[in-house]
Amino acid sequence: MLVRWFYDPTLTYEDNYANGPFGAFAGDDAVLAADSPHEVFLGHPVHRPFGIPAGPLVNAAFCEAAFRQGFDVNVYKTVRTGAYPCHPFPNVLNVHVEGQLTLDKAGAPLLADGDLSRATSISNSFGVPSRDPDVWQPDMAAAVAAAGEGQLLVGSFQGTHPAPGVADRAAAYVADHVTAARLAAETGARVLEVNLSCPNEGTGNLLCFDTESVVRIAAAIKEEIGDLPLLLKMAYFRDDAALAGFVEATRGIVDGYAAINTIPARLVDADGAQALPGSGREVAGVCGGAIRWAGLEMVERLARLREAGDGFTIVGVGGVLTADDYSALRAAGADAVMSATGAMIDPALGAKVRALG
Ligand SMILES: Cc1cc2nc3c(=O)[nH]c(=O)nc-3n(C[C@H](O)[C@H](O)[C@H](O)COP(=O)(O)O)c2cc1C
Repeated sequence: MLVRWFYDPTLTYEDNYANGPFGAFAGDDAVLAADSPHEVFLGHPVHRPFGIPAGPLVNAAFCEAAFRQGFDVNVYKTVRTGAYPCHPFPNVLNVHVEGQLTLDKAGAPLLADGDLSRATSISNSFGVPSRDPDVWQPDMAAAVAAAGEGQLLVGSFQGTHPAPGVADRAAAYVADHVTAARLAAETGARVLEVNLSCPNEGTGNLLCFDTESVVRIAAAIKEEIGDLPLLLKMAYFRDDAALAGFVEATRGIVDGYAAINTIPARLVDADGAQALPGSGREVAGVCGGAIRWAGLEMVERLARLREAGDGFTIVGVGGVLTADDYSALRAAGADAVMSATGAMIDPALGAKVRALG
């Protein structure tokens, strides 16, 4: 890496959690304060509806630094109702992709290695680790408090599948989402996001492709959290009819959608062997510059669906490496834009977006 990333992928997740953030996020420097907030996101005044999505900001220290550096809408990394381990190191590899990662290309193995010096597309294979709520609740509350004027902290959570032997597994899974939402709401977060799109749990099917279950889960969460805005974090949908059905079934329940998470692909080393160690990790989520097309296309499709019927909020995520990428997603209909890989590569990206006229 030419610049040390604030989440340092050459260290373990635990090292990052205990000792980060690093690089430009490590000091107390702040970018110059912007003028009064001049945009509104989900009812909250923000300087710019731009920030870092669920993932790289693993705790309050990272969130505080992101706010200081001019990222105005940031998501605290996805939490669960109980402690959950991280996949073994490494988690982030450089993924070699020629141009954009089309679905065709993602159907073939991709070379991945640890040389991140010029990476623009990476794996993120963590398995959604979580602290116990006793730890993350006060820490998320500190992250909420770290948002200055014109800034907003979003709390991300997801459900955990019940242990083997639990009788009504579907009901238990819904109930776990509801508990996670309640615990996140108790921190004072003013917007919540439920992750329905994790490709890193060793299960082939993403929750967001099971509309019936999502409706049950989203309705139960909303009953618990009331007026607190809820976003659904989605994967890329291949099928237009499936996307339309998903939005039709959920738009009356939730406040909006964040898309996309990652594009899954089989990652291999130079010998053709599995690049990330351990079972269930043959396929990993790829993010960064190579998935820009998919984030943009999903925002365009969601914006078209929004035209008919009641409105909803769209958060554009995926492959945003520059301020121009931010502008393209806004022009396509995104109410807010977020960058994970791009922000790690360029910690000044928040300041650059703030500087847009
Ligand atoms: C290090 C890292 C960890 C991530 N962890 C999560 C997570 O816990 N929950 C989630 O919903 N998405 C997670 N993501 C996915 C991002 O939120 C985002 O959807 C994805 O990286 C695409 O954006 P990008 O191309 O700007 O990286 C993670 C991404 C990265 C890079």
